[in-house]
Amino acid sequence: MRWTGGSEALVLGIETSCDETSAAVVRGGRQILSNVVAGQDDLHAVFGGVVPEIASRRHTEVITLITHKALHQAQVSLAEIDLVAVTQGPGLIGSLLVGVSAAKGYAAAYGIPLVGVNHLKAHVMANFIAPPGQEPSAQQLFPTVCLLASGGHTSFILMRQFGDYQSLGETRDDAAGEALDKVARLLELGYPGGPAIEQAAAQGNPNAVALPRPHIEGSYDCSFAGLKTALARQVRETPPETTQQVADLAASFQQAVVETLVGNLPAIIQQFNAKQLIMGGGVAANQLLRQKLAEIGQSQGIPIAFPPLDLCTDNAAMVAAAGYFQAQSQGLSALDMDVFSSLPLPSYDQL
Ligand code: KG4
Ligand code: ZN
Repeated sequence: MRWTGGSEALVLGIETSCDETSAAVVRGGRQILSNVVAGQDDLHAVFGGVVPEIASRRHTEVITLITHKALHQAQVSLAEIDLVAVTQGPGLIGSLLVGVSAAKGYAAAYGIPLVGVNHLKAHVMANFIAPPGQEPSAQQLFPTVCLLASGGHTSFILMRQFGDYQSLGETRDDAAGEALDKVARLLELGYPGGPAIEQAAAQGNPNAVALPRPHIEGSYDCSFAGLKTALARQVRETPPETTQQVADLAASFQQAVVETLVGNLPAIIQQFNAKQLIMGGGVAANQLLRQKLAEIGQSQGIPIAFPPLDLCTDNAAMVAAAGYFQAQSQGLSALDMDVFSSLPLPSYDQL
């Protein structure tokens, strides 16, 4: 069933796909009235990565509180909500189940329509939303290409319109953020690894250690596992003994990850005649990546846009916005909808 919410429709978004518990209220698919995010880095740091069972337990503890906080901040009641949008995948199954169960509960108890959202589409939508009185980071220029790079995902997504997304390529193994997190652990820099590597790299020489730039012929897919293994071999053969040597390794690895991430973008922009380049995912915080993207935008003659950091990382406002457009273009979900650890977007070569 298609949903016909208007520009004033209030969407309650819920996001629990990984280790952030988040709820938000978004008006008309574009205007953020509230966006409450509770992270769990403190719980997972000691393990150097997200522990799924711990993540879902924490979601269970805080989901009701976070949802009520989001409603309170937006000054709306559940009875005023027109649509509940929730991430149904991809993500950790136990974590997804907590958000989807909560969303189903609100939908059933208050008779609100429900829509299950693809987390990847939500990251793209983060570029097109903003609080009242502020402009979204991206313009409505289509087609737009989005580089999505987080701890769980690395994809190149073509957005032809709101609600219309195709995957042009993705990582064949580790996500970019995952590779940064693993190498940070190897270099004993802490968790999350991306910011730790970036900080250490600031004092290092990016050309100190020769690392590969993996390229997959005939495809826009990318790969980070070989890069990570090359760095691990280097550390095994010549263990760093000084802070400077660690910084050099961090800088060389960061440079290799960023160059691998942006390597396909000029060809993608040209092939699809993209009018804008945008970003999503926690790795978008990286300054070197932002600088390289700015250079690509300039050389290709198209604008680039980054959401503010709180919208780059996992949050429910982007889920609410994606749900608003999805319910209009593809319809609602049933109360017995499922969760999916893998939920690929339609890929370009399947069309
Ligand atoms: O989107 P996100 O918060 O969570 C998901 O993975 O969905 O992304 C987290 C990832 C982590 O791998 C983290 O190391 C990386 O984003 N990250 C960064 C930076 N800040 C966070 N990577 C590179 N540079 C950063 N400044
Ligand atoms: Zn994410």
